[in-house]
Amino acid sequence: MTYRSSAGSVPAVRGVSFDLAAGEVLGLAGESGCGKSTLAAALLRLLPPGTLVTGEVLLDGEDVLTMRPGRLRAVRWNDMSIVFQGALHSLNPVHSIGRQIREAIEIHRPKLASTELRARLGELLEVVGIPARRASDFPHQLSGGQRQRVLIALALACDPRLLIADEPTTALDVMVQAQVLDLLARLQSELGLAMIFVSHDLSTLSYACERIAVMYAGRVVEEGPSAEVFGKPAHPYTGALAAAFPIIGDPTFRMRPSGLPGDPPDPRDLPSGCPFHPRCPVAVAECVTADVELWPAGENRRAACIHVLERVGVPS
Ligand SMILES: Nc1ncnc2c1ncn2[C@@H]1O[C@H](COP(=O)(O)OP(=O)(O)O)[C@@H](O)[C@H]1O
Ligand code: SF4
Ligand SMILES: [Mg+2]
Repeated sequence: MTYRSSAGSVPAVRGVSFDLAAGEVLGLAGESGCGKSTLAAALLRLLPPGTLVTGEVLLDGEDVLTMRPGRLRAVRWNDMSIVFQGALHSLNPVHSIGRQIREAIEIHRPKLASTELRARLGELLEVVGIPARRASDFPHQLSGGQRQRVLIALALACDPRLLIADEPTTALDVMVQAQVLDLLARLQSELGLAMIFVSHDLSTLSYACERIAVMYAGRVVEEGPSAEVFGKPAHPYTGALAAAFPIIGDPTFRMRPSGLPGDPPDPRDLPSGCPFHPRCPVAVAECVTADVELWPAGENRRAACIHVLERVGVPS
C-alpha cells in the first residue's frame, strides 16, 4: 500500500498477509505511523484515490480490490464496516443522530416498517449506551464519547459480519472505554462478529483479542495468540511494547516502548535489513543486511527476527 503524495511515494504497508475466520477477533498493535490505519482502510478499499494497493483482500474467496462499485457498496454495508480513527467530526452536523442511523438501517432493510425501524434505532442506541430518547439530538449536543458511540452504532446498523474498529475507545474517558469494550465483546460473542481491533493500548488489545499482529515500519513483525505474544514476546519490538504495558485505560499511555530510543522509521527512508535494527537492543551485525521475514516461532506463532531462527531452527 503506497500513498502518492507531493513529497513522493510513501510505501506505508508492505508484504502483509493474514487470515481471519468468522467470529475471530484480531488485534493490530504498534506505535503511531507503523501502518495500522492504512491496513485497516485498505481492507475496505477506502484509501485515498491514487494510492497503490497490490495483492488481494479475499472475502469468502471474492476479491474486494477488484469488485465492481455496486458490489463494493453492498459489501461495505452488509459484510464489513469500519469505525475510523479520529472520525468524531464525521457525523453530519445538520441531521439528528437518529436520522443518520435510520438512513443506514434503511439501506440494509428498505422494507422495514416504521415501527420496526424506530425499534431498531432505539436498540442500536441503547446497545452503544445512548438513551433512545437522544435520537433527536444533533451531533453538537453530544459529548465526544457519545459521538464515538453513535459511530459504532452506525457501523453496526447493517449487521456486518466483520467490524474493523480503528482506535474505537481512544477518545473516550476511562469508564466509557470499559463500557464500550464490554459492549464490543458482547456484540462480538452474541452476533458471532469477526473484528479487527486497532489500538495503541495493549491492555485493550489483550482484553479484546484472541490473536494479535504487531506492526512495525509497515510490516507485521509478530503474530500469535495475544496472551502468548504479550506474555512471552518472540520479537524484541513486541518485548519493548509489552514491557511498557500500561495501567488499563491510562489516557497518557501512547504505546511508547520502554527502553527504546527514537521513533519508527519514515516509510520513505527505511533502514536496510531488519528495519528495526537501529533501535533494537539485541541487534547483531547481520541484522543490517539480513532479509528478515516472518518465520514460525512456535505453535500458531510467527515472528520476523533472526533470533527466532536461532531458537526454532531454519524452516524447511
Ligand atoms: N494520506 C497519506 N499520504 C501519505 N502518507 C500517509 C498518508 N496517510 C498515512 N501516511 C503515512 O503512512 C504511514 C502509516 O500511517 P498509518 O497507517 O496512519 O499508521 P498508524 O495507524 O499505525 O499510526 C505513516 O508514515 C504516515 O505518515
Ligand atoms: S532481526 Fe536483528 S534487529 Fe531485527 S529484531 Fe531481530 S535482533 Fe533485532
Ligand atoms: Mg492509525
